[in-house]
Amino acid sequence: MFDLIIKNANLPDGRKGIDIAVSAGKIAAIEANIAGEARETIDATNRLVSTSFIDPHFHMDATLSLGLPRMNVSGTLLEGIALWGELRPQLTKEALVERALAYCDLAVSQGLLHIRTHVDTSDPRLVTAEAMLEVKERVAPYIDLQLVAFPQDGYYRAADGVKSLERALDMGVDIVGGIPHFERTMQDGAASVEALCRIAADRGLPVDMHCDETDDPMSRHIETLSAQTVRFGLQGRVAGSHLTSMHSMDNYYVSKLITLMAEAQINVIPNPLINIMLQGRHDTYPKRRGMTRVRELMSAGLNVSFGHDCVMDPWYSMGSGDMLEVGHMAIHVAQMSGVEDKKKIFDALTVNSAKTMGLENYGLSVGCNADLLMLQAEDVLEALRLKPTRLAVIRRGKVIARTEPKISHLVLDGRPGQIDAGRNPTTRG
Ligand code: FE2
Repeated sequence: MFDLIIKNANLPDGRKGIDIAVSAGKIAAIEANIAGEARETIDATNRLVSTSFIDPHFHMDATLSLGLPRMNVSGTLLEGIALWGELRPQLTKEALVERALAYCDLAVSQGLLHIRTHVDTSDPRLVTAEAMLEVKERVAPYIDLQLVAFPQDGYYRAADGVKSLERALDMGVDIVGGIPHFERTMQDGAASVEALCRIAADRGLPVDMHCDETDDPMSRHIETLSAQTVRFGLQGRVAGSHLTSMHSMDNYYVSKLITLMAEAQINVIPNPLINIMLQGRHDTYPKRRGMTRVRELMSAGLNVSFGHDCVMDPWYSMGSGDMLEVGHMAIHVAQMSGVEDKKKIFDALTVNSAKTMGLENYGLSVGCNADLLMLQAEDVLEALRLKPTRLAVIRRGKVIARTEPKISHLVLDGRPGQIDAGRNPTTRG
């Protein structure tokens, strides 16, 4: 007797009519026509069933704080950082936990069950770290939450930046962060990368840095990060988030840089919604997109995954916890509109991110955790186009969220008809 069988599903790799049987929270079988009884059965005919979504780059300590204490008028990254600095002294652990838990509820409803969040360590009170450690524990039954110690105001630039980051790691924060492009000088930035990689090597932790989140083509901290990764033997355990300066760099230089990044096995995390919103703000026309070189990085064999980064905070007044919205924007801004391109974008929201975060037992094969979604779409192309309803969200074999399918009922020229969330726009009764 299985705990659950999902019948007749379409899978992201294009297979159709596949059953998925679940026992003790794991995938027990995945093939056509599985025999045997189950306590619960879900009919997935003509529905895409995928692994749960992953967000490898988020700011859960800032989420849902939009308007506190005021709005970002210029819309720039730097005003966002200044605004967050105004709010920071007013932050309380209780309010941080409350907002984070509200976001996690939203995330679950969107099938987002694995999140890596940066935690600002600039305030020596470290209420952010205290709050996020509590949230991590409370959401563990339904979300895998990883925490990055993130010196928002600069590791060297902030008065207590060095000490506070180490204290956050001592408290149990999982990953070493950084923000080299925000240090006072390029030299300080490079020195911070070296120091932070050394801490990671000494403590046996991964690294995930905000790196070169700027339009400055001479912001080249990713070069230093790659070199230090090799030097400290951290290959495959380091992520470079944003990397927007690569958009503006000289092509010849980039051809050398990407080779170095590949040698270091850097995990690349662009944040398409935020990058297209914040970068190029100092340009007149033409305005740069600020998206790193996704196609070229993927072609060179680098692991690219996409982050949501922000939802309703000082940097971004939009967002809904929907990784398909992130993928939708990635398709546009990276101009990856081909069929194979789109499949790669879907992978970047799922399996690539699992690699970035080092998630174990993630996948659609026997023995993997049964962390699954059923979407109101037939395949990954339709999912990316429609950002459809998550009909069922399954965590370790249990349905933890259900949403009714979106169906519009029409009466046109006296004839009734219906549209299944845009899938069959010509269906008429
Ligand atoms: Fe970020």
